[in-house]
Amino acid sequence: MANNIPVLTIDGPSGSGKGTIAQLLAKELGWHYLDSGAIYRVLAQAAIKHDVDLADEAKLATMAESLDLVFSLDKNVLKVLLEGSDVSTIIRSETAGNAASKVAALPLVRAALLKRQHDFRQSPGLVTDGRDMGTVVFPDAESKVYLTASAEVRAERRYKQLKEKGIESNLSALIADISERDARDSQREVAPLRPATDALQLDSSALGIEDVYKHVMARFFEADK
Ligand code: DC
Repeated sequence: MANNIPVLTIDGPSGSGKGTIAQLLAKELGWHYLDSGAIYRVLAQAAIKHDVDLADEAKLATMAESLDLVFSLDKNVLKVLLEGSDVSTIIRSETAGNAASKVAALPLVRAALLKRQHDFRQSPGLVTDGRDMGTVVFPDAESKVYLTASAEVRAERRYKQLKEKGIESNLSALIADISERDARDSQREVAPLRPATDALQLDSSALGIEDVYKHVMARFFEADK
């Protein structure tokens, strides 16, 4: 696939802050934004809605190919529509995240979603957020970041985010959930969570969003200044 449109990939585990930094970078660069995790979340939601078993690989792959999913930006907030219904809030729950992690472990599902993700590569550029953006989906991207943070810090961030959205949760359950999801995402056979060899690796445990932003800009966009 020859494509000159630049891509900046941001990979990392849940709660590392990659969504926030990816959206900020897309806004500042004036590039498109792909939240690949949302695609897996919506697919899991569609499976639950249509009573499809989360382990039924063949059926889920067929669903993935024809998934009626629309992303739109509403006042800088990502809106996600499944079959015309707004699922932006429901797909962010921990239950939805765990269901997404299960369907994301299925090779046929991942293969079925590749083209949909490649289609986001539009001029003038694309910032992507996920687990395998730099390793599998856009291996030819020239700018790759791998953002991580300790499980405790990530669970605390998730706790705060959920609280802000009015969703009650429990911190120790969140730490357990995050660790379980990390294990599933990094130990699966296809496209496991791991840094691309050419990725800039950053630990956001002690870095604010502004610091992460500065590191990424300095490394990839201000090198010649
Ligand atoms: O980034 P997120 O938490 O919204 O992702 C939800 C789940 O989807 C996550 O547990 C793993 C999976 N995922 C994936 O396997 N590959 C991606 N590129 C993005 C997400």
